[in-house]
Amino acid sequence: MASTRSYWRWSKQDFLPEESFQTWTNYTSALSQTWFRFKNRLTSRSDDETETTQLRKQSENEMKRCLSWWDLIWFGFGAVVGAGIFVLTGEEAHDTVGPAIILSYAVSGISAMLSVFCYTEFAVEVPVAGGSFAYLRIELGDFAAFIAAGNILLESIVGTAAVSRSWTSYFTSLLNKPKNSLRIKTGLKDGYNLLDPIAVVVLAAASAIAISSTRKTSYINWIASAVNTLVILFVIIAGLVHADTSNLTPFLPFGAKGIFQAAAIVYFAYGGFDSIATMAEETKNPSRDIPIGLVGSMSMITVIYCLMALTLSMMQNYKDIDTDAAFSVAFQSVGMKWAKYVVAFGALKGMTTVLLVGALGQARYTTHIARSHMIPPWFALVHPKTGMMDGYES
Ligand code: ALA
Repeated sequence: MASTRSYWRWSKQDFLPEESFQTWTNYTSALSQTWFRFKNRLTSRSDDETETTQLRKQSENEMKRCLSWWDLIWFGFGAVVGAGIFVLTGEEAHDTVGPAIILSYAVSGISAMLSVFCYTEFAVEVPVAGGSFAYLRIELGDFAAFIAAGNILLESIVGTAAVSRSWTSYFTSLLNKPKNSLRIKTGLKDGYNLLDPIAVVVLAAASAIAISSTRKTSYINWIASAVNTLVILFVIIAGLVHADTSNLTPFLPFGAKGIFQAAAIVYFAYGGFDSIATMAEETKNPSRDIPIGLVGSMSMITVIYCLMALTLSMMQNYKDIDTDAAFSVAFQSVGMKWAKYVVAFGALKGMTTVLLVGALGQARYTTHIARSHMIPPWFALVHPKTGMMDGYES
């Protein structure tokens, strides 16, 4: 499937190759068929063979199968464990559920696991870069996939912008500087007036690493996620050493309803695992590696999150938990003021890997969306070097 054409090309044909865009007459005639074409798209379905074979040819170069279950497990940690666990646990324990926040994480984790099972099954059946977009084209057709594609791209843009801005916030707190001191104030309307150049640099760096090589990104993600896991283990162990079981009573101050209300919010902390399904095309043995990678990482994350929630609830009475910096203040309350830096460092690492693996996932979604020509096919091209020769053989 290797191409002899240059990857770097910008002709009209590369962006708008369809017949309808060749002349104004064709365009007008295509416009007049809008309803018929819409109906056609609404009812047409793709199939496994088209997604896995035909569509992939649009990329001209194949993606290298360089990932194993080990990479996928760490990608799972990288994509999922970010700021959510550090930010939401305190807020929800204090305002919505009390010490039973551990049950909220369990409920949310089970719910996320049901989605994980669906993603796993689809990713094994249709191991391509398009993830949920490809599955929707097969199951519900082009129209549903078109709406999903819009959502996926929008979510990527808004989500990464939000995470990269939080990155600056945590970085500021790590440096012990006043809030917003690293942002540039402009004369724009309040709420829109703080430009964040550090967020831009972090995003550019994450994208540059993700573009350079899947294999190297996996390696960097692995190291960063392992450090993050150590920070989390530190929080759990050091926190449980200072635990006081009397903080667990009353266990359900807001009633059972609180468990489910908080579960809906803390679900955010489990988000991101869909990026792993987009790696299926680069996985060496999808039917073995994807179930181990996806289900394995999400099971471990669920246990870790529940333990983190339990630790926080046992360190302080739920009424005393600080809603802005829960873990830092909890450690301060037991005389470990310095732990605040460990927590901020862990959150920062977590957010960095969320951005890094997110950049990988978004690129793969975009590639497959472009393969289906919902956006210009130029975006489907896979670079011959980064795609084929990722410098990794096992
Ligand atoms: N799950 C990711 C986080 O918690 C989005 O930051």
